[in-house]
Amino acid sequence: MLDTASGLKRTHNCGELNKKHLGKQVVLMGWVNVRRDHGGLIFLDLRDRTGITQVVFNPQISRGSHQKAEEIRNEYVIAIRGKVAERPPGTVNQNLSTGQIEVLAEELRILNQAKDLPFEISDKLELGEELRLRYRYLDLRRPEMREKLILRHRTAKTVRDFLDKEGFLEIETPFLTKSTPEGARDYLIPSRVNPGKFYALPQSPQLFKQLLMVAGMEKYFQIVKCFRDEDLRADRQPEHTQIDMEMSFVEPEDIFNLVENLIVHLFKSVLDVALKIPFPHLSYEESLKTYGTDKPDTRFGLGIVDISDLAGKTNFKIFTSALQKGGKVQGINAKGGGKLSKKDIKDLEDLVISQGAKGVAWFKVAEGSIESPFKKFFKGEELKELVSRMEAKDEDLLLFIADKDDVVTEVLGELRLELGRKLGLAEKGRYQFLWIVGFPLLQLDDEGRWDAAHHPFCMPYEEDIPSLEKEPGRVRAKTYDLVLNGKELGTGSIRIHFRELQEKIFKILGIGEQEMNSKFGFFLQALEYGAPPHGGIAIGLDRLVAGMGGWESIREVIAFPKTQKAICPLTESPSPVNSKQLKELHITIDKTAAPW
Ligand code: AMO
Ligand code: AMP
Repeated sequence: MLDTASGLKRTHNCGELNKKHLGKQVVLMGWVNVRRDHGGLIFLDLRDRTGITQVVFNPQISRGSHQKAEEIRNEYVIAIRGKVAERPPGTVNQNLSTGQIEVLAEELRILNQAKDLPFEISDKLELGEELRLRYRYLDLRRPEMREKLILRHRTAKTVRDFLDKEGFLEIETPFLTKSTPEGARDYLIPSRVNPGKFYALPQSPQLFKQLLMVAGMEKYFQIVKCFRDEDLRADRQPEHTQIDMEMSFVEPEDIFNLVENLIVHLFKSVLDVALKIPFPHLSYEESLKTYGTDKPDTRFGLGIVDISDLAGKTNFKIFTSALQKGGKVQGINAKGGGKLSKKDIKDLEDLVISQGAKGVAWFKVAEGSIESPFKKFFKGEELKELVSRMEAKDEDLLLFIADKDDVVTEVLGELRLELGRKLGLAEKGRYQFLWIVGFPLLQLDDEGRWDAAHHPFCMPYEEDIPSLEKEPGRVRAKTYDLVLNGKELGTGSIRIHFRELQEKIFKILGIGEQEMNSKFGFFLQALEYGAPPHGGIAIGLDRLVAGMGGWESIREVIAFPKTQKAICPLTESPSPVNSKQLKELHITIDKTAAPW
């Protein structure tokens, strides 16, 4: 028989008792973290959201409760009444905020039992993610996970308060809506009352926030779920949360200022970390050239150096033949990488091959001379030139890739990150923010068609507009990305606010008159009724919180995330639905595609 808590009122939390409470009668409720039997004495660590208090059952004081305490297992839910006492000398626990006291139990009530757990509630275990997600409610009992959710809460709350003070209104926008193109597939919702018609879950509130500017709201924000059916990774979930913002009558500098002040305030209040502003700016072109990516981790250098001209003069076939095919040769000086073993270098080679390169040519510099299987292909002065070009010193490791332009850039970008990890350069607890600016407006897709580099609503630089027809690839957009330690945290832009230009962009993107009207007619029309100039940004909340805590995967900071296969192991969604539901929605399933 279980007890009830009736008549007992919780007086304190498990994390708050200390010597100030000595002699006080208290009532605590929570979970049993551990039970230890020490002859006559039974010790329980009682845990709630705030921490742990040691509770002692002594047969003389606890009487009947002492016997009951013997039944208790880990994770039982209990209530105890007792007196706060000083711990005997030698038993003080300095690692616990409540470590100087204990509660001498006088009454125990068992409010619920717990079965044997699939894993211990402890931060010290290495657990498979599938298991953690299946029992997420237990996983979240672990102190580390609780802290992550608290950090997320504090972050969202601080952002809300900050934006409220800055005059922003939080306005909700619909989830059952029409597609907003953000580059992913839509999640579709069939309409029962409109047979054959579908809502799309928003990939972002982009069009609605722009409509709110047309509506004169001037400063909008929303902490909002966005839904995208795309390939998942450590930093991508099918549903993610954005801190979405939009303002009227602004230039990019206004957005930079706002976001920088927001981030500085957030880091100071939540992490007690002081950040320097303004954040540095780097052009898209420069970023690709130096770091091989548009979201560089600038906690360390290891910039990419082009040696194509030098490589072309050598007799090294791998280099010269890549150049003859119109490619390039570039490399990285992995400072201090001389200490890496042959096995480490082999791992780096495997990495570059898995990323699409054919291999990596390496040179170690030690005591003024060079060690490399490739040394024989180079004349003495060529090696000298290589060392000087790469500013190589003793203990450095030079790594080169020869291939097509984009392969070299991308793979060296990845190799650089791996070297940062291997050489311990990506220091935890350091926050390197930067703005990437000067993005192109359009990019060619795999089929050779123009695609919006960000989304189709970004304003081109005024001086580039005349090139739209003849050289669309050269037009830069008033788009900016916020990057933290190698992760894209946010993206935004100044928007197009007049119909003619918006239509022109749609046309370049291959969207015909009919499609334009059916998909965006309402929006184009709104631009004709006095749309103000406006712009904004959206910051990924999941990535922001993961970045603040230094966690690689955003699944760590989402209460109930999905796996890489977009499955929730806890609820087992997505799941089949019954034929009645399908019929109501006017849907038939292609049985050849479904496994059941
Ligand atoms: P964008 O598509 O760049 O821009 O998204 C903004 C930010 O949202 C986060 N993010 C994601 N986080 C987790 N999982 C995902 N699948 C995912 N997709 C995006 C990233 C990203 O930087 N409407 C525009 C913003 C604007 O122009 O104002 C937009 O959604 O941190
Ligand atoms: P292979 O001739 O493919 O066995 O490669 C011989 C060595 O050259 C290996 O160490 C490769 O990693 C390296 N290598 C091969 N192709 C390239 C390339 N395109 N760029 C740089 N190094 C390469």
